[in-house]
Amino acid sequence: MSSASRIIHEDAKVMRATIPGVFDRLANSNILVTGASGFLGSYIVDILSVLNHASPSLNANIVASDNFIATNVDRLVHLKTDPFVELRTANVVDETDWGRKFDWIIHCASMASPIYYRPRPLETIDANVNGTWRMLDLAEAHGAQGMLFFSSSEIYGDPDPRFIPTPEHYRGYVSCTGPRACYDESKRLGETLCISFWAQRKVPSKIVRPFNVYGPGQRLNDGRMVPDMMSAALDGGPIVLLSDGSPTRSFCYVRDFIAGSLGVLVLGKPAEPYNVGNAEERSMLDVARMMAEIAGHPGRPLDVQFRKSDDAQYLVDNPSRRCPDLTKVRADVGYEPSVDLRTGLARTFEFYHERRHETVAA
Ligand SMILES: NC(=O)c1ccc[n+]([C@@H]2O[C@H](COP(=O)([O-])OP(=O)(O)OC[C@H]3O[C@@H](n4cnc5c(N)ncnc54)[C@H](O)[C@@H]3O)[C@@H](O)[C@H]2O)c1
Repeated sequence: MSSASRIIHEDAKVMRATIPGVFDRLANSNILVTGASGFLGSYIVDILSVLNHASPSLNANIVASDNFIATNVDRLVHLKTDPFVELRTANVVDETDWGRKFDWIIHCASMASPIYYRPRPLETIDANVNGTWRMLDLAEAHGAQGMLFFSSSEIYGDPDPRFIPTPEHYRGYVSCTGPRACYDESKRLGETLCISFWAQRKVPSKIVRPFNVYGPGQRLNDGRMVPDMMSAALDGGPIVLLSDGSPTRSFCYVRDFIAGSLGVLVLGKPAEPYNVGNAEERSMLDVARMMAEIAGHPGRPLDVQFRKSDDAQYLVDNPSRRCPDLTKVRADVGYEPSVDLRTGLARTFEFYHERRHETVAA
């Protein structure tokens, strides 16, 4: 029996009801998830596991693989005896024997948080370039129906304000030598590989560009803004901003994002990039204040403070605005985000609160 958290159980049921056709396409298949112990990979594995048990006719058989470079082995330990899930320690770059044929490949493996990828630029490039190449080769060899590449909204760099909201055809304003280049540029080349494998070998690659996804399961020490705020809120504050609070982001609750991404995998056009996110653009200060209200008492929000990061490069090449144009994914996939930021943050906080309670009680 799967024991994902209560919040993820609820999310799974909502997803089953909102995108039934997508799960029908994933039924009775073998699915490889790379980077499966990370935030997004583990959420996908949990959702499929919950739905397998709720309706065994789904019968989605998952190989959940990770090399644990940016996470720990505990995240999916509750699925150790799940008959639908095989947990596998593997580096996506050099694993050669996967032991079965895959119908779908969901390639999430890549460090995603600057505090993890900046000290390891070569491993970051390796996962996004060589790892993506391996996964495309594997999709071809197995005759897979789709290989989903998790690119990033970071491929747009710091966009020209005339291109906010940012459509997929915007080419980006990106440094190839700055402190984030290993990530941004390897995601760009990963997309080029997907396009090229389709053009030359008809491998059905699918590409999503996630925009700041947050939600249950993200590690509290991940180093991205929402887990940092959650961690501070659990300790009673203050909520700390390491910028002046003016940069904007459009945060997307993970259930919406994964529904959109699975939609792209199954219904999206091959070799076409799709923005997937939420177009509710907010300044960092707004987000921090919202979090302070959610975690505080009525009329008594937590403190919000501004500090300077100890890391001199913390804000270098940090985009000043981020907001997706969702026209294309709406039209091709029928995607529509449904969780507003306040609801999503409250839900995420509840998840951590429950988990902390469970840990203390255990
Ligand atoms: N979460 C977001 O908001 C967001 C935004 C843009 C892009 N993405 C992309 O989505 C994917 C998943 O992101 P996430 O937030 O879950 O990141 P994450 O850091 O939580 O998880 C990534 C996982 O990949 C694993 N990994 C890294 N290199 C590997 C390798 N060579 N072989 C096997 N496993 C490897 C790590 O150990 C980790 O468990 C990444 O490709 C990321 O770049 C995420």
